[in-house]
Amino acid sequence: MKKIFAVASFTAVLLASCTPKTSTPTAATGPATSTAEQIAQGKTIFENSCGRCHKLPDPTSHNSVQWVGIMNSMAPKAKLTDEQHQWVYDYIVSVKK
Ligand code: HEC
Repeated sequence: MKKIFAVASFTAVLLASCTPKTSTPTAATGPATSTAEQIAQGKTIFENSCGRCHKLPDPTSHNSVQWVGIMNSMAPKAKLTDEQHQWVYDYIVSVKK
């Protein structure tokens, strides 16, 4: 059941990302790009993948712009897919806010 929900919500995100943003929800509480579920996955991936070669970095040690560059060099090292790269980035940035 949980898996079906995950697939369904992921599909919804894919569809949403292809749709022009005509009506923006007024109460935008969460991060813009990822669902809470994707951020939770990003956290798990971060904890499992990013402490292998060095100490697990502190998400608050760099700003969101610096993290773009760091993730661009670290995601291939951690062998992340593009999706995982995005989720880990969104998790890191979510910690700062
Ligand atoms: C295969 C080994 C490896 C993995 C996996 C890895 N790193 Fe690194 N990381 C390094 C090395 C080596 C350095 C130092 C040299 C460099 O900056 O390229 C580094 C440096 C860093 C730095 C310091 C960069 C700076 O400019 O201060 C951060 C932050 C970082 N990694 C984050 C991450 C994150 C986040 C992940 C998970 C997506 C990750 N690393 C996964 C090898 C790895």
